[in-house]
Amino acid sequence: MKFTIHTYGCQMNVRDSEAVEALMLAAGHEKAAGEDDAEIVIVNSCTVRQKAEEKAVGKSGNLIAAGKITGMMGCAVKRMGADIFKRLPKLHFAVGPRAFGLIPKIVADGKYPVLELGEDAVPMGMDAHTETSWQSFVTVLLGCDNRCSYCIVPDVRGHEYSRPAREIIAEVSQLAKRGVKEVCLLGQSVLRYGVRNKAWDDYAGEAFPRLLRELSAIDGLERIRFTSAHPKGCTDELISVYRDCPKVCRHLHLPVQSGSDRILAEMGRRYTREEYLAAVKRLRDLDPEFSVTTDVIVGYPGETEEDFEDTRSLMQEASFDNSFIFKYSPRPGTRSAALLDDVPQEEKERRDQVLLADQEARGLMRNKRLVGTRREVLFEGPSKRKADRYSGRDGGNRIIVWDRPEDCSGDLRLGEKLTLEVIDAHPQILVGRPV
Ligand code: 5AD
Ligand code: SF4
Repeated sequence: MKFTIHTYGCQMNVRDSEAVEALMLAAGHEKAAGEDDAEIVIVNSCTVRQKAEEKAVGKSGNLIAAGKITGMMGCAVKRMGADIFKRLPKLHFAVGPRAFGLIPKIVADGKYPVLELGEDAVPMGMDAHTETSWQSFVTVLLGCDNRCSYCIVPDVRGHEYSRPAREIIAEVSQLAKRGVKEVCLLGQSVLRYGVRNKAWDDYAGEAFPRLLRELSAIDGLERIRFTSAHPKGCTDELISVYRDCPKVCRHLHLPVQSGSDRILAEMGRRYTREEYLAAVKRLRDLDPEFSVTTDVIVGYPGETEEDFEDTRSLMQEASFDNSFIFKYSPRPGTRSAALLDDVPQEEKERRDQVLLADQEARGLMRNKRLVGTRREVLFEGPSKRKADRYSGRDGGNRIIVWDRPEDCSGDLRLGEKLTLEVIDAHPQILVGRPV
């Protein structure tokens, strides 16, 4: 049957959707040209904030109304459980984030409705990839055991499980043979790789840095990225990997959430403002151009103007290259859901806007410092905004655009490496010229 998958949420969901696509193709189904052409549509859902969940449920409702065989997968399914059929009585199937491997069988059986919330299992298809692209996600750590007060993820994605290092190395070697130039290793808190269960049979040191070193030795692979990180994982060993392994990109997404020690303690983040800033300093001492990006929540219960100003000043001190700001959204069953959501919506909005404006100015300032430098870029195709421009990314995950040459013969291949000189800077984008 012709199918398509619609994905909401983080890279983990993007990766899971790819696995489902590979499993469906292996089961003999065919990718539809688009949604209209599809007989089956699978919606991969997110529940990190209420709005995200609403989007996936709304989308599924529309697909059901359009007569599609509609299935949902992902985080919102696990959170809602059987209630999902109260919202969507005609939904055909719903599977949790660690049960997506069952989808081909559910479709083959064709007996709807089906609900499979799944256990803490490793899903089938964990290592399945689709068509050869030059970039690939590889999940290394499933689940999360951090239990931050506001976060629904541990409830929906289950306990941490580190995939065996040998399996990951084999998978990445295979991808590199197929022409993949860049891998991004995924985990909710990827630096906890190998903490809860052993990742190596023969090694008792820090598991994640060792994994990075081994992956660095794979021929043909140009770049290794990973996300997301926690400052506790920024150990000397990790820093020495950055120093020794040029393939490991000097970019770290290090969600801070708040700059107020009081709020950080309430959130259960297990670091102070000072410890967080020390981790950033370690990265920037190694390389002043080290790109550090973050997530911040505004309007956490009880967040005062003073707490907010602490967040604002931390962001300035950390000099983030980019940041993602989220308005607090209470999630049922989390610890903070028991607290009064007392910061008014307009105030959350205001704090969001203030931090966004700060980031624009800071992003521009940081990018301007790169004008005149040379960056190594992997080619990503025409720019999304202007088709007469080419676009690529440097190791710091910075987007760089440049004029497409008049003569496109002998053109670039996707993922090809080239060197650009930066000639102009914007808050989110650099402009370059090939050298
Ligand atoms: N409300 C708002 N933002 C949240 N995040 C996680 N849980 C919530 C919530 N309940 C944000 C965090 C996290 C990002 C993926 O989403 O900043 O890093
Ligand atoms: Fe990703 Fe979290 Fe959304 Fe799940 S709930 S898709 S883990 S962001």
